[in-house]
Parts: sequence; C-alpha cells; structure tokens
Amino acid sequence: MNSYHYQGKLAVVTGASSGIGESYAKELAARGCHVVLTARSQNKLEALAGEIKRKHGVQAYALPSDLCKAGAPRQLAESMNELGLTVDILINNAGFGTYGRFEDMDPEREQEEIMLNTAALVDLTHHFLPGMLGRKDGIVVNVASMAAFVPCAYSAVYGATKAFVLSFSEALWAETRGRGVRILTLCPGATDTGFFDADESRDMAAGSALSTPENVVQAGFRGIDKGSSYIIDGRNNYMSAQMGRFLPRRRVALIMERISRPKTR
Ligand SMILES: NC(=O)c1ccc[n+]([C@@H]2O[C@H](COP(=O)([O-])OP(=O)(O)OC[C@H]3O[C@@H](n4cnc5c(N)ncnc54)[C@H](OP(=O)(O)O)[C@@H]3O)[C@@H](O)[C@H]2O)c1
Repeated sequence: MNSYHYQGKLAVVTGASSGIGESYAKELAARGCHVVLTARSQNKLEALAGEIKRKHGVQAYALPSDLCKAGAPRQLAESMNELGLTVDILINNAGFGTYGRFEDMDPEREQEEIMLNTAALVDLTHHFLPGMLGRKDGIVVNVASMAAFVPCAYSAVYGATKAFVLSFSEALWAETRGRGVRILTLCPGATDTGFFDADESRDMAAGSALSTPENVVQAGFRGIDKGSSYIIDGRNNYMSAQMGRFLPRRRVALIMERISRPKTR
C-alpha cells in the first residue's frame, strides 16, 4: 500500500489536550494537515492550536467538547459543518481508564467511560466515515489498547471498552477494504501520559517500561502506510498480546488478575 498524502488534509483529533492526542495533532500538522483539536480543556486546546499555527503554518481549530455527554459528537460535527470543514482524517483517541475492584467502582464514572471510549467513537465514525467513503479518501484511527486482547481484572470495564474498539474497528476495516479509506486500530501499551494520573489507575503502570506518546503515534503512521487493520506499539507488547491466542481463556483471565491485583486491601 502507498504512503498516505497528508498535505492539505483536515484531521480531527479527540483527546488532543494531552498525551497521545496532543502528539498526534503535532505530528499531523508537521505533515501539513490542518487540525481540529477537541477535548474538554479549552485553554490547553487553544494554546496548542496557537503553537501549531505558528510552527507549521496550517489551520488549527480548538473546539472543546465533553464527549461523555450524549449528543456531543453530533454537536461537534455540526460545529465543523458551520465552519465549512470537511474531515479527511479522524483520530478517535479520547479515553480514560478506571481501576479497582468492580464492587468499589463508581457506576456513573463507568457509564462515562463506556460513553467516551466506545459510544462517542462510534458516533464520530458515523458522522465522518460516509463522507470519506464518498470521496474514496480518508483515514480513521481508533485508539484501543493492549487491554483489548485480554480480560482485564480490576479494569474490567476499561478492558471491555477497548475490546469493543478493536472488534468494531477490525470489522470496519474489513467492510470498507478497497474503498479508498484506511481504518486502523492503534494499540498502545503502557505509555507515559496523564493516563495514569488518576488515583484509581496509578497502580496499573507500576513496574511497566513506559513507551512515549511520540512512539505510539509513529506506530500509528506506520500502520496506516502498511494498510494494517491494527498495530501494537512495541515488540514486547506485541509478544504479550499473543498470549491469549495460545492459552485457555480462564488461564489468561487468572494471569491478568494476578498481575493487576491492587496492592492495598
Ligand atoms: N497512556 C497509556 O498507557 C495508554 C495505554 C493504552 C491505551 N491508551 C489510550 O490512549 C488514549 C489517549 O490516552 P493518553 O494516554 O494520551 O491519556 P491522557 O493524557 O489522559 O489523554 C486523554 C485525553 O482524553 C481527553 N478526555 C478525557 N475525558 C474526556 C471527555 N469527557 N471528553 C472529551 N475528551 C476527554 C483528555 O482531555 P480533557 O481532560 O481536556 O478532556 C485528554 O486529552 C486513550 O484512549 C487511552 O485509553 C493509553
């Protein structure tokens, strides 16, 4: 498959205010893309849009949105319509994790997690993929995780949302193959971002060798150039993701429980 021509295209990046999304927005702009930056933190988005415009001479729009809220993806798409923007590239990156014993988790927070990590991602894909297919050109990158490959004790909901993202995106990859649009599931392992800042998920990164957002994004660009359906950042992560293919499912679930068990209580 040929390298994708990014110059002059318009990319929407969700979760662009920090971490992998911020890095994605910068790299897309460095390749000549105009960018729409979205997340909740308006100040951070505006600062990043200013930096990108100055540095790369492309258009950069800061459109804050809380994608946990029903109807937010539609409102975002409408705002872009009003600005006369046609989306060529969608980076569905916004997401968060929750960590702890299921019975201790805040049910409302977990509903928000499901909304952001899965429902908003599907909704945004509904808004922008048909136009890409019509023009026979475009990219959708859905950010999943290593958590997509195994049942994740103590992050049961998070792991399930990422398994959803992987299954949904691989199915779309197959469904749209040969129609000019590239669909990639990007699977980072533990990466040095604000992801682990939340108290509830700090333990999850303990002892892990962290990748960088820049490495994750480079894996994403490689996956697009190769026409891959999914890509995992890092060789060790790739090897770990294969575990589930060779061991009984209950064994994998129990290994994950032992690795992830909270240190307290
Ligand atoms: N870091 C890792 O180890 C790791 C590993 C595997 C997968 N991932 C995945 O990578 C993606 C990016 O995470 P990250 O590591 O870059 O973490 P991060 O630095 O915490 O970034 C998360 C982004 O999502 C945005 N976000 C959170 N809640 C939102 C909401 N309600 N509406 C809109 N945007 C919201 C945040 O912005 P605001 O707070 O401004 O809204 C932020 O820009 C996530 O999907 C995550 O699951 C991360």
